[in-house]
Amino acid sequence: MNEQNPTAIRQSFSEDFQRPQYHFLPPSNWMNDPNGLLFWKGQTHLFYQHNPFGPLWGNMSWGHAVSDDLIHWQDLPIAIRPTSGGPDEFGCYSGSAVDNDGTPTLIYTGTRDRANIQTQCIATSDDDMITWQKHPQNPVISEVPAVSNQTRDFRDPYVWREDDGWYMVVGSRIEGKAGVIFLYRSQNLVDWEYLNPLLEGTEERYGLMWECPNFFKLGDKWVLIISSHTGHSTDTVHYFVGDYVDHRFVPEHVDVLDYGTLYAPLTFVDGQDRRILFGWLRENRSDRDQSFAGWSGVQSIPRVLTLDDQNRLHMQPVPELASIRGEHFHYTASTINEDQLIAESHNVDIEATYSADASGTFGLTVLGAPDGDECTRVVYDSDRQQLMVYTLTTETNGAISTYTRAAVHPLAADEDLTLRILLDGSVLEVIANERTSLTARVYPHHQSQQQVRLYGPSTGLMSLDIWKMPSIWQ
Ligand code: FRU
Repeated sequence: MNEQNPTAIRQSFSEDFQRPQYHFLPPSNWMNDPNGLLFWKGQTHLFYQHNPFGPLWGNMSWGHAVSDDLIHWQDLPIAIRPTSGGPDEFGCYSGSAVDNDGTPTLIYTGTRDRANIQTQCIATSDDDMITWQKHPQNPVISEVPAVSNQTRDFRDPYVWREDDGWYMVVGSRIEGKAGVIFLYRSQNLVDWEYLNPLLEGTEERYGLMWECPNFFKLGDKWVLIISSHTGHSTDTVHYFVGDYVDHRFVPEHVDVLDYGTLYAPLTFVDGQDRRILFGWLRENRSDRDQSFAGWSGVQSIPRVLTLDDQNRLHMQPVPELASIRGEHFHYTASTINEDQLIAESHNVDIEATYSADASGTFGLTVLGAPDGDECTRVVYDSDRQQLMVYTLTTETNGAISTYTRAAVHPLAADEDLTLRILLDGSVLEVIANERTSLTARVYPHHQSQQQVRLYGPSTGLMSLDIWKMPSIWQ
């Protein structure tokens, strides 16, 4: 089975240039949400929704990996799987992890009856998280609060500690209305008392069901992150920033956490007291192509979260990423020309700064074919104050722009534009001014599509740095 020799399995994909090299993904097969992030004895444990038996969703289990530096990972055995006849017999869905006074504890959603029954369960480990025991009293929460109008959607527990006990938020919906997050409290992680809705959605644009809540204090404010499930491709992650008073959350600011493919993110506090977010970078190709590839789903590079003075969430890829950067190219406006070829690689880390007065449409071209036939562009349009990622392909009848993603990104009058671009095979993570995130999955057709070029005029370019990135699995 695949968990037995992960190194050899990873090796077998070495010819797949669409497969990321410095982002985490399992040795093979399907992965979705990050689960149960926990800092434990100097290391970070990452669990993830995983199908051990194939590259499409199913048999939901918790895969497991551990890291010393948030960049390099070691595969560990699968942590939990469905137990036939148990409350999780259809799947061990998403959840979180806590250190309960020396006992690592996973809190997750067990599903039965093809997920028509969703309940909250726990599991503990007494051997540093190699094996897990499901609690005999599972499920520890079996009824969805009545205010939901008996919805079946009740999942993704996120648990944290306060002075007066453990708290849990669970994603759900009020049937016929909108998404909702329910709040619970417990003294022992087994007996849970339902308190009240933490926040109820009022508008359909924030989704009909809220999945994967995260609720935490950041600076002086509280942040609620939700993945709004609409049932179609507009599923989006939103965040709310506000105050937490008497067990209710009063948001002051709401925004989109990512305009692209990042979904179901999970945060935790690491050994340096940083609030860190991982998100699932969904595929953008057919089931057939995913089956053919033999793998599906990637985790984002972990991001450090902070708030600015306007209560906007800032996201910075962990600085540890810089420690693996390879060959480096540096330019300024006077040392580079429009369309100049800079590097050839499918795996690069880019930092670009344009001055506040730069105008027009400018940015970078990546994954360019040598004959110019196909490429992907990451550009900023200063007139529209918009960030865009699009792929151009040429067919016999001319160039076709396959529109991919766009994000509004207003800049203050004197604000420079900064772009951070992480390209890794088919993964493209773009973060503008640390606050506008646009992730995409693009699939170069040919191995030769490696060109990285400047796009548009270089006037206004204050600095451009590009590093080739290695594989983290060597
Ligand atoms: C989000 C999600 C969660 C659920 C899990 C199942 O992507 O739908 O709500 O727990 O995936 O795999």
